[in-house]
Amino acid sequence: MEDSYLIKGGKKLNGEVLLSGAKNAALKMIIASLLFDEKVVLDNVPRINDVIELLHLIKSLGARADFIEKNKVEIDPTSLNLNKVDLLHASKIRVSFMLFAPLLYKFGNCFVPNPGGCRIGARPIDRIVEGMKSLGVEIRYISRTGFYEAKLPDKPKGSFTFNKPSHTGTELLIMLSIFGKDRIILENCANEPEIDNLIDFLNQSGAKITKKNSRIEIDGVAKLKFKQPFKIIPDRNEAVTYICLVLATGGSLRLKDLPLESIGIFVEKLKQAGVEVKDSPEGLFFNRGRLLQAVNIETTPHPGFMTDWQPNWAVLMTQANGKSIIHERVFENRFSYVEELKKLGAKIKFIEAKVDNPGDFFFFNYKKNEKYNQQIEIEGPVRLHGGVLNIADLRAGASLATAALAAEGESAINGVSILERGYEDFVEKVSNLGGEIKKI
Ligand code: EPU
Repeated sequence: MEDSYLIKGGKKLNGEVLLSGAKNAALKMIIASLLFDEKVVLDNVPRINDVIELLHLIKSLGARADFIEKNKVEIDPTSLNLNKVDLLHASKIRVSFMLFAPLLYKFGNCFVPNPGGCRIGARPIDRIVEGMKSLGVEIRYISRTGFYEAKLPDKPKGSFTFNKPSHTGTELLIMLSIFGKDRIILENCANEPEIDNLIDFLNQSGAKITKKNSRIEIDGVAKLKFKQPFKIIPDRNEAVTYICLVLATGGSLRLKDLPLESIGIFVEKLKQAGVEVKDSPEGLFFNRGRLLQAVNIETTPHPGFMTDWQPNWAVLMTQANGKSIIHERVFENRFSYVEELKKLGAKIKFIEAKVDNPGDFFFFNYKKNEKYNQQIEIEGPVRLHGGVLNIADLRAGASLATAALAAEGESAINGVSILERGYEDFVEKVSNLGGEIKKI
């Protein structure tokens, strides 16, 4: 299987990228489509490995789910006939645990595997399980099998306050609540625009959900009604990747259809670093222009600087003048790219993070006696050179491709199926910008 990229770097990339639909909206919308009693069509769905895996998983439960055009997916939940999620399929796609919502709605009980940890951290679902319990779900974990067994004896009801926000947790509890009894209130929810997109889809289909900042109110309805193909928002994580990628090579980029607010803090940081940014009716325009200046960032959930953006930001900072710091607060293992970038000559080191109250400061479940590496210092500018790189997780993968394109000479990147879990037509889009990249 072709699973590597060969990249010849050192060329300025320029042009425009057509953004794909947002992975982190599409995956949830596909799952939410199982809450209907009729066919649903979603538009602007990225044809990426994660979506393809999710469609396989849904089909393994008896439903029909296929691409009917390049970026249109039709889901027919009427033939859904299994309430046990297949372990092998589920292990390939983390959002499988979100199937609790449609399976409880359709069957009243279900068996869903523990999604377990992954390459960017332990990623427990304790807050989500607690939330489901507060809404009336009876759920227990059977460690012998690795499955959660869940039952919903009555319509969901009640309220829940997240102790710390969770993006997918918020979405799962929304899905669970739309057929609830009376009004369900969720507080201290996550605020990502992908969640708003899910709410828009459900409300367009008859749900009654209102969201004000981190408080969500849901008035139960009897059923959802499909009105028209729902268009998924452009992928802002993909946008940030291409912005960093082009700027790291010294070039300029135009993007259409992306609301500036969805990447607001990122744009602020770019401006501080000296990047020229223009917002006009023709779209957003980014130009590296003069020498970049080092700028520190700290990751927090939206509207903060997203954790998904920091690996690419790190590459950009290797080209900036001075020392910059990245402090990762959301996941406990999001620096897998550091050793790889060092192979290309990047000057990056882990530094100790001095934090007064880590239990509150970090968004993961901080453990007192555990050793964490949450902060790096990058020194720039350096002339990166080619090398052989290995991808450990999705966003790290994109940052390695960015670094290879900015570096002088040739690089081989292995494990690109991980990158392609989240980036549609990556080779084509980079080539259109003038990058020399080949899949081998
Ligand atoms: N957490 C817990 N317990 C929970 C829920 C979350 O400890 O019950 C922790 C997580 O382990 C993490 C922090 O809380 O340390 C925040 O997690 P959150 O639940 O908000 O993240 P997520 O829903 O698992 C989604 C995206 C991620 C993105 C984060 C942050 C999807 C499918 N995934 O993850 O995207 O980084 O929100 O916005 O929507 C990616 O696209 O590469 C990716 C990892």
